[in-house]
Amino acid sequence: MTDPILKFKNQVAIVTGSSSGIGKACAVHLASLGAKVVVNYSSNEEEGKKTLDEILAAGGEAILVQADVSHEEEVKALFNQTISHFGRLDILVSNAGLQKDAPFLEMTLQQWQKVIDVNLTGQFLCCREAARQFVLQEENVEEPQHSELAVGKIILMSSVHDVIPWAGHVNYAASKGGIMMFMKSISQELAPHKIRVNSVSPGAIKTPINKEVWSDPEKYKDLLQLIPYKRIGTPQDVAKAVAWLASDDSDYVNGETLYIDGGMTLYPEFADNG
Ligand code: BGC
Repeated sequence: MTDPILKFKNQVAIVTGSSSGIGKACAVHLASLGAKVVVNYSSNEEEGKKTLDEILAAGGEAILVQADVSHEEEVKALFNQTISHFGRLDILVSNAGLQKDAPFLEMTLQQWQKVIDVNLTGQFLCCREAARQFVLQEENVEEPQHSELAVGKIILMSSVHDVIPWAGHVNYAASKGGIMMFMKSISQELAPHKIRVNSVSPGAIKTPINKEVWSDPEKYKDLLQLIPYKRIGTPQDVAKAVAWLASDDSDYVNGETLYIDGGMTLYPEFADNG
């Protein structure tokens, strides 16, 4: 029987964008469950190192690798370093993402492009490398285990804005809407290889990306109007769901989007209206 506490023992996970926020919580949580974790950052080495140190201090195993997920060569280098250090890959948490908000009438091509490059193309590049590695590992197995369980797990970071339109953030909403169909399509294509692909769609989670909202008492009050559960989410709320999707407990779950949003997608404004 596998140790239920170390459910990812001998498994290797890459978590992109794990220098802060949800990515950091995913990296720390997976490591606490026994995974060997590749902590990735794009530009903030100091924060990346903090994630690494937190994992190591708790007795976990991890390395720190810089890569901007929107650059193909850097993504390839990230995966190469993972394989040369840990020898294999079992889990990809394709998390790295950002916002560049602007009213639509004023949005520059640069603001549009940057968000699409990181949030959508970046996830394409990382998922493709992970899937190639999973297929390669299966082909090279000397004695196939004939296990019924998935041989590779991919979890994409989407958002409630893959279904909730978001004025003033159309680049971000378009990138996450794109993630929804990208995830479903590769899930359909990769399932015969015993690779599972799912998304998580967080609502308002207390991270640096939306600090402007939760750090201002007035804006925070307004935000709670959008959350039936009446609290902002924590990065750990998301990390626990990601760990479940990465584990064999969800082995028959494929191509799904799991909303972790305290009910934000339930049209809360209709609770006493309409
Ligand atoms: C965004 C946050 C926002 C949340 C709910 C997330 O995807 O990154 O800035 O608070 O959606 O609107």
